[in-house]
Amino acid sequence: MNIKNIILIGFMGTGKTKVGKLLAKRLGRKFYDSDKLIEEREGKKISLIFQEKGEAYFRWLETQVIAELSSIPEGTAVIATGGGVVLNETNLGYLRQHGVIIALMASPEEILQRVSADKNRPLLQVDDPLGEIKRLLAERSPLYAKADLSVDTDRITPPEVVDKIITLLGH
Ligand code: S3P
Repeated sequence: MNIKNIILIGFMGTGKTKVGKLLAKRLGRKFYDSDKLIEEREGKKISLIFQEKGEAYFRWLETQVIAELSSIPEGTAVIATGGGVVLNETNLGYLRQHGVIIALMASPEEILQRVSADKNRPLLQVDDPLGEIKRLLAERSPLYAKADLSVDTDRITPPEVVDKIITLLGH
C-alpha cells in the first residue's frame, strides 16, 4: 500500500476533479481541489479572477494553495490540481514532498468534447479552442511527463480511470 498522498495533474478536461473525488472515496481519504480552494479564498470563480486580476495573480494564488496542500499528512489525501500547476517548477517540488504525482492524459479532441460547455476555463475562451488545446498541450506535455505515473483517460469513464490508478498503485 502506497502511504503517500495522491496528486492528480493533467490538462483541463482530463477528469482530475471527478476522478479525484471517486478515488478518495474508494481509498477512504479526504479530497482536496486546488482550484476550488482558490475560488473559496477569493470568493470568486476562476474566470472572474483571471478577468479582474490576470493570470499572473492567479498563478501566485495557486502556488500559495499548493504550498499549503503539500503539508497535509501523508496517506490521508487525494489532491486534484489545476491544469497549469506544472508551469511553475516550485509547485511540483512542493507536491512531491508527500505525494505520488499521477498525470491524467487525453487527446485534444476528447478534451475539447469534455470542456466545450464550460465557461469557467478562461484559457479556452478563444475562437479556435481545439487549436489552443493543441498548442498548450504541446507546450505542457514535457511538464506532465514529470509525473511519477501517467494514465490515458481517452474513451474510458472516471470510475474506470480510478480502477487503472488503483491497479498502478498496487492497492
Ligand atoms: C488552467 C486550468 C484550470 C484552472 C485555470 C487554469 C490551466 O483548471 O486552474 O483555469 O492553465 O490549464 P482545470 O485543469 O481543473 O480546468
